[in-house]
Amino acid sequence: MNTETLKKLVEAFGPSGREEKVRNIIIELIKDHVDDYKIDRLGNLIAWKKGTGLNKKKILFDAHMDQIGVIVTYKDKRGFLRVEPVGGITPQVIYGTRLNFDGVIGVVGIERETANAYKDNLKNLDFDKIYVDIAAPSKFDVGIGSFGVYDANPIFVDTKVISPALDDRIGCTMLVETLRSLDSLYNDLYVAFSVQEEHSLAGARVEAFDIKPDVAIAVDVTDSADTPKADKRTSMVLGKGPAIKVMDSLSVSNSYVVELLKRTAEKNNIRYQMEVLHMGGTDAYGLERTANGISTGALSIPTRYIHTPSEVCEWGDVEEGIQLMKLLIKEEITF
Ligand code: CO
Ligand code: ZN
Repeated sequence: MNTETLKKLVEAFGPSGREEKVRNIIIELIKDHVDDYKIDRLGNLIAWKKGTGLNKKKILFDAHMDQIGVIVTYKDKRGFLRVEPVGGITPQVIYGTRLNFDGVIGVVGIERETANAYKDNLKNLDFDKIYVDIAAPSKFDVGIGSFGVYDANPIFVDTKVISPALDDRIGCTMLVETLRSLDSLYNDLYVAFSVQEEHSLAGARVEAFDIKPDVAIAVDVTDSADTPKADKRTSMVLGKGPAIKVMDSLSVSNSYVVELLKRTAEKNNIRYQMEVLHMGGTDAYGLERTANGISTGALSIPTRYIHTPSEVCEWGDVEEGIQLMKLLIKEEITF
């Protein structure tokens, strides 16, 4: 498996609103494989390649560059920091982890004045009860307004990938690899690497207004239910192909786009699963409610432990997803 692109992308620092490092890596990877690209005022990276079809349409693939993180809200005299979440990060999950403040590492501690307080704080863990401890804080320029993300090296083992930034560098990787391995295009392809999905979906909304595609597809991770006592109302599993989203708690996919994805997969013997997620959402929500409405769907990679330092996915699902995206650009769209 060629995981070089993913490795580069998951190692880049990119909390919501601070995606420059990820964007610069992507530009280097795609610039020789597109007609042109631009960065809009919000920071989205938009690239395009024109197709040659007689009845061609505009297809937009979107993946978000940003990852969940924290922001520093307070620093005490000894340099201990208080933080707030940026996107869906919880105190239960960050307690005990290492955070990376763009090169400076901090560890997350908990208030524990008495044995009872410690027990209580663990049970009712809250951002009020935890702090970030940076070794030799005076030496580093981490203060109010600094962003942090999980610090963890990616691991590639057998056919699985483990990293805190699969959401959504896995989608970015799929877009990059699609562009880098395109042969012929029927439709006009627009590829957008968006900002601030985890915080507000602001990037997706703006880019879709700009491009006004005929079809938009958000490429992101989704939950999986193949672990002990996993969510019994969820069907997605690792290793059975990418998932075609029908609905999540923020959006309902356009029925034509769902059928288009299914039909293209079936015609080409690409495995897929259907996704209905009773929580969460993706850039699809931002994309669809722009201008006078955009026909939107989503392609998802089932992933375990989303929004923890150890998100896990199956590389084969990623490769099948890339195949499907490449074939979709060749499909005639008839509405
Ligand atoms: Co997320
Ligand atoms: Zn995501």
